[in-house]
Amino acid sequence: MSLTNYRSLGRSGLIVSPMALGTMTFGTKPWGVDKDVAREIFKTYVENGGNFVDTADIYSLGVSEEMTGEFIREMNLRDQIVLSTKFAFNGSSSPLSTNHSLGNPNAGGSGAKNIHRALDASLKRLKVDYIDLYWMHIWDGVTPVEEIIQTLQDLVTSGKIRYYALSDMPAWLAMKAATISNERRRPQPIAIQFEYSLVAREIEREHVPMAIESGMGIMPWSPLAGGFLSGKYKRSDTSNTGRLSGANPFGDSKFSDQNWLILDELKKVSDELDCTTAQAALAWLMLRPGVSSTLIGASKVSQLKDNLAALDMKLTIENIERLDRVSARTMGFSDSLTTPEIRKMVYGGNAVIGWGQK
Ligand SMILES: NC(=O)c1ccc[n+]([C@@H]2O[C@H](COP(=O)([O-])OP(=O)(O)OC[C@H]3O[C@@H](n4cnc5c(N)ncnc54)[C@H](OP(=O)(O)O)[C@@H]3O)[C@@H](O)[C@H]2O)c1
Repeated sequence: MSLTNYRSLGRSGLIVSPMALGTMTFGTKPWGVDKDVAREIFKTYVENGGNFVDTADIYSLGVSEEMTGEFIREMNLRDQIVLSTKFAFNGSSSPLSTNHSLGNPNAGGSGAKNIHRALDASLKRLKVDYIDLYWMHIWDGVTPVEEIIQTLQDLVTSGKIRYYALSDMPAWLAMKAATISNERRRPQPIAIQFEYSLVAREIEREHVPMAIESGMGIMPWSPLAGGFLSGKYKRSDTSNTGRLSGANPFGDSKFSDQNWLILDELKKVSDELDCTTAQAALAWLMLRPGVSSTLIGASKVSQLKDNLAALDMKLTIENIERLDRVSARTMGFSDSLTTPEIRKMVYGGNAVIGWGQK
């Protein structure tokens, strides 16, 4: 496989590479990259056939969008690139309150006022007149789903965005968005973005079945758990190694006993396949049901090349089963509803297989 093994993103006509370039490292201090390295990373990705680039208004407070827009212009790629960016985190720089301790609540979230503000600001930073894929970065827990999708659908109609998608939200919200969009014959969200890797499989409980049922492509973020699955951190000393040394920008530590066990098995599998652990971890993820395009991040061109080589990896069924087993999450109530034992209780002892099931 290569980056030119294009596929549609969800049930849509948007055609994307199997790996998308994440630009969260562009301009982000202290663990990101400066403009020269970012340009090399971008160039390497597109020269290898990649067409899908992901940024956000919040990444390096807009610098990532500025760099991404500049690189696209330098290489004259606006038509070829599927450009995606995101709104929802607060972008206010001039707080309303007199003591300047609070920001503007309408400069964040998924209300209509913020979506229009955020999109106009992103278009300006990127210096483009439309976005191909516009993401709700995170649900605000307040705005009704009807308001979110109507605002985004109207932006599709106006031509400012081509498609929209949802990241970091409850499965019920995405399902409701897809269902009412279809009932109203209006554009539906075409993808979801979530943390998904060998050490983060929670999404499989509700979000994966939801995405498959409703025609949304899955885009895993942090597929290497911020670098943990590259195997470069040592259990005895995790300092001075990379992004995860010191404060983890995503809160919870990746250095749990369970994660070290998963990494041990991943190392054994990759030794047998003569590849890096990053490659085996990405190859496993790209085979998961519903995954359309995996977001890859890098702070060096060599890392990007290492990760792109995962496209050529062929895991055996035995490799996959071992990785599935060691990384299995605990069963929850919704998993327990569809076990073969329960199904036999429902179907008079028969092992009935449903549509799309194995
Ligand atoms: N929707 C969301 O909420 C959300 C959240 C997070 C990310 N994202 C998107 O997902 C993209 C990818 O996320 P991520 O950057 O967290 O992905 P990741 O692949 O889990 O982590 C990338 C980091 O791991 C290290 N690394 C990558 N490849 C390596 C290799 N081959 N060998 C050794 N180390 C390697 C580098 O960090 P070091 O500097 O430590 O070497 C790199 O910056 C982001 O750019 C962004 O576009 C979305």
